[in-house]
Amino acid sequence: MEHSKAMSGLFITFEGGEGSGKTTQINRLAQTLTAAGHKVITTREPGGTPEAEKIREFIVQREGGDWSSMAECLLLFAARVMHVDKIIRPALEEGKIVISDRFTDSTRAYQGYGRGFDLAKMEELNDMVLGGFGPDLTFILDVEPKMGLSRSERRLAAEILDAAQTEDKFERMDTSFHEKIRQGFLDIAANEPERCRALDATQSIDDLAEAIKTAALERLGA
Ligand SMILES: Nc1ncnc2c1ncn2[C@@H]1O[C@H](COP(=O)(O)OP(=O)(O)OP(=O)(O)O)[C@@H](O)[C@H]1O
Ligand SMILES: [Mg+2]
Repeated sequence: MEHSKAMSGLFITFEGGEGSGKTTQINRLAQTLTAAGHKVITTREPGGTPEAEKIREFIVQREGGDWSSMAECLLLFAARVMHVDKIIRPALEEGKIVISDRFTDSTRAYQGYGRGFDLAKMEELNDMVLGGFGPDLTFILDVEPKMGLSRSERRLAAEILDAAQTEDKFERMDTSFHEKIRQGFLDIAANEPERCRALDATQSIDDLAEAIKTAALERLGA
């Protein structure tokens, strides 16, 4: 699962439901690692390249239509292959630390655990499209969906976006869907303990940042 040893960088991903604190912690970790002298780039999924950002619009905006879980999955992997080839792999080859806000685990959690797309089929697709390429280290921020969603709502309200822009279809589904997502992320963490660190995201921002910093520096051999 780890990226090829020929590459010298480190690929870190943040996963978890809406409002679990991914973006907040990515900014903190990027600052910490940059201050420690590392070259760091941050990116996000779906997205990270102009092509993949276009695919993001289809998936995230409600106007995009009613995509089946299979179609959604294919769109996400189409976006991901551009992101990996154009941004992530080249940066890792330059020895950079790449931090991505979501990656394949989100497809596993949302389209697989959440929408019922066959998980074994998804792994076949992952192997075919990315040759099993994946992160070296993944932080899974775990929070009860109700708390995460309310944090997320408050953040969106504060951004003064109009209602149409804030209508993210994932955020509009009922909590039982978000419970499946949460359980999916926890399953992934339990299945891959070497790669994944599940963290209680109800901790303070500072406490979480400290735990994440420690795990990242340990992985970097510092
Ligand atoms: N540990 C925390 N305790 C309390 N509030 C937090 C914590 N972490 C983040 N927040 C707040 O919760 C809101 C959502 O955080 P953030 O945007 O980092 O989450 P996210 O996982 O990136 O959400 P999304 O999936 O919607 O992008 C922000 O207003 C942030 O300041
Ligand atoms: Mg975010």
